[in-house]
Amino acid sequence: MSVVKFYKEDQQVPLEMHKVRVVQKLFLPNVEERVKNLTEAGNNTFLLQNKDVFMDMLTDSGVNAMSDRQVAASMIADDSYAGSETCNRLLKALQDVFGTKYFLPAHQGRACENILAETFVKKGDVIPMNFHFTTTKAHITRLGGRVEELITEEGLDPDILLPFKGNFDIKRLKKLIKEVGPEHIPFVRIEAGTNLVGGQPLSMENMLEVAAICKENGIMSVLDASLLQDNLYFIKTREEEAKNMSIAEITRKISDAMDIIYFSARKMGFSRGGAIVSNNEKLILKMKTLIPLYEGFLTYGGMEVRAMEAMAVGLYESMDEEIINQGPLFIEYLVKELDDYGVPMVKPAGGLGAHINASKFLPNIPHELYPAGALATALYIAGGIRGMERGSISEQRNPDGSENYAELELLRLACPRRVFTLSQIKYCADRVKWLYDNRDLIGGLKWEEEPEVLRFFFGRLQAVGNWQEKLAAKFREDFGDSL
Ligand code: F0G
Repeated sequence: MSVVKFYKEDQQVPLEMHKVRVVQKLFLPNVEERVKNLTEAGNNTFLLQNKDVFMDMLTDSGVNAMSDRQVAASMIADDSYAGSETCNRLLKALQDVFGTKYFLPAHQGRACENILAETFVKKGDVIPMNFHFTTTKAHITRLGGRVEELITEEGLDPDILLPFKGNFDIKRLKKLIKEVGPEHIPFVRIEAGTNLVGGQPLSMENMLEVAAICKENGIMSVLDASLLQDNLYFIKTREEEAKNMSIAEITRKISDAMDIIYFSARKMGFSRGGAIVSNNEKLILKMKTLIPLYEGFLTYGGMEVRAMEAMAVGLYESMDEEIINQGPLFIEYLVKELDDYGVPMVKPAGGLGAHINASKFLPNIPHELYPAGALATALYIAGGIRGMERGSISEQRNPDGSENYAELELLRLACPRRVFTLSQIKYCADRVKWLYDNRDLIGGLKWEEEPEVLRFFFGRLQAVGNWQEKLAAKFREDFGDSL
């Protein structure tokens, strides 16, 4: 993709190195229907029905397009309970890609997190990480552990242009280990790339340094590789040391330094499921008994065998730069289109999706009125596009009931890999631009029903006032009879 140059410089766009062979018809409801759908969904994009969504940019999880080879492989899955050939093929792929001898299957990423937390975390423990992910934190805190986020200061600034804003602050990591004591730190979790801070990557150098510090202090290093494929692309293209290394070599250099790697195959490997891998037999044995208890037998761990076959092929494909660059290049295109227009975006473009800085987009809407959630509803009205609130609604209240406002109020527009065409990405940019020009019409949200746990999944909200109807009316005025 990156090596194809266009004759006219101004026509330079990301060029797909694949063709589409299976399609799904989409439906775009009109703007009045969109307002109605939103009300029925409690102004929560998680509760919208997919039949009412034109571009589903909620997540990149479990919705990436599979290759012909993955689909073909899934047809030869061996679903025998014990001694499954599918399991052997997946084990071989994991060994080839990560160089790890052992593998424990789990039904998805958070199931791996559950196994890790149950095995290693006890009350009073501290688990340092560059940044948390919702399910990771929930498992650790459930067991009485505490998460310490050690991302560099720049990582939380959406405007600073640095190549690796997901990096650990090494000084803070060393200081924390000294203060808490290694005996209270069961492991350091390295999330590469990051999720909640705009898909920003970590450098290979930073990951290796963190792993080395862990080793010096007798602490386990655990890599969450769910978003590794995007991160690998950024290492290859942004890090001097890695310029002459292949993606496979970069992967091995990182994985060789880690004690445990786990990932959600809903992202890494273009499939479904999850895996924990390691070269350390003792660590694997500690976790092993929990797999049949929570997940399923050791040959499948709750996964569908067809997904396991697809994962094996998807992992090999993830070592191909021309395959893994599609996501980041489309995201970069979308971010540039919007940034050039003045829309406040998280920069530089990262993995997973494009992230709009909702606090800056809607400076008059305070945290209490949930700017990122409000923007998510406005974009659905503007274009039938479903994004995901990644701001204060996604946080949990403090034990005393007070709000735990997010550091960044973001609207995430995920770009599932190989799913959208460039014209759809252009449509998305066009609707966000319109919304930006009409941002004064956007108001806030308030709770109608607020669950105590994971409120962002199930909670229902209301628009404060009738701004959504006014926005829809402006859409009609500007777009006439357009959908
Ligand atoms: N770790 C990271 C970095 C993730 O992004 C996710 C999932 C998980 C772990 C959990 O994996 O979903 O298979 O249980 N992220 C999804 C998202 C849900 O939409 O960003 P899972």
